[in-house]
Amino acid sequence: MDFKQELGKRTEAIENILTACTPKEEGYQKTIFQAMNYSLMAGGKRLRPMLIQETYRLFGGSHEAVIHPFMAAIEMIHTYSLIHDDLPALDNDEYRRGRKTSHVVFGEAMAILAGDALLNYAFETASKAFNLAENMEEFRGVARAMQILSAKPGIYGMIGGQVVDVELEGRPLDKPVLDFIHEMKTSALIECSMMIGAVLAGADEVSLNKVEQMAKNIGISFQIQDDILDVTSTLEVLGKQTHSDEKNHKTTYVTLFGIDGAMAEAERFSNEAIGLLEEMSEEKGMENPFLVELICQLVHREK
Ligand code: IPE
Ligand code: IPE
Ligand code: MG
Ligand code: MG
Ligand code: MG
Repeated sequence: MDFKQELGKRTEAIENILTACTPKEEGYQKTIFQAMNYSLMAGGKRLRPMLIQETYRLFGGSHEAVIHPFMAAIEMIHTYSLIHDDLPALDNDEYRRGRKTSHVVFGEAMAILAGDALLNYAFETASKAFNLAENMEEFRGVARAMQILSAKPGIYGMIGGQVVDVELEGRPLDKPVLDFIHEMKTSALIECSMMIGAVLAGADEVSLNKVEQMAKNIGISFQIQDDILDVTSTLEVLGKQTHSDEKNHKTTYVTLFGIDGAMAEAERFSNEAIGLLEEMSEEKGMENPFLVELICQLVHREK
């Protein structure tokens, strides 16, 4: 398998799904559509929709039309979280996905509304999957996926993590609190994606719990690498300003353990995830080599 080529193909397919879901930029409220599309269509790795798709494939899902609304929805929710994360009241950052941030281009009021709009439009989009379900089992899967989509980004998930992240800025944190923040602000959307892929393919509750564990580890590893890149990368490569964490006096794995220590931890969480994936694959007699490689590559990513 040529991983780079496969990754490119998948990313392009996701771009097409997203494009098909974007609102037309017309009408009196045109500015909101422009602001939504500006951030949503600015590139980005499209990791979360990809994880929905690859987990769906892992569990042998074969009616991919039904996952497309969820793939678009999770990227909308992720993009909303980034627009709000960049606001002056939060991380106050000026670049995202290689472009000026939403509030810099459209003003703060419109950036807040664009985030709100993407969150709502995500549910409007995801709920279209009900119309695509071909039988009762699939319909139930869509209902379960909607529950996951509404819970994981919320107060016991992404928002919960952002709250603690922002509230404890400037204070020294110990590892358990930092892990809580990572599990909530970052793992929650990764768990959301992989669990949605699994339920839509008909995975049982035991498997779903394992998927959640695996995704939790991927998310923590992903955030550690994000915090490393914040120190080691550049605006040109990353598409967002570096040293944002230092500016905001954030405690990270890098401040706690240094770059090498943080790298070792990122590897450890990633290996844990791969171990769980391999265990589950063997048990169920399923495989997805692309997913395994994708998880391996994330720890070494450059953006
Ligand atoms: C950035 O997410 C926010 C974090 C959770 C670290 P990504 O690194 O997936 O951002 P995009 O989607 O590629 O822009
Ligand atoms: C934010 O983490 C994760 C979100 C829930 C948006 P960061 O604040 O480190 O993400 P970046 O570095 O701005 O992408
Ligand atoms: Mg932040
Ligand atoms: Mg940030
Ligand atoms: Mg960061």
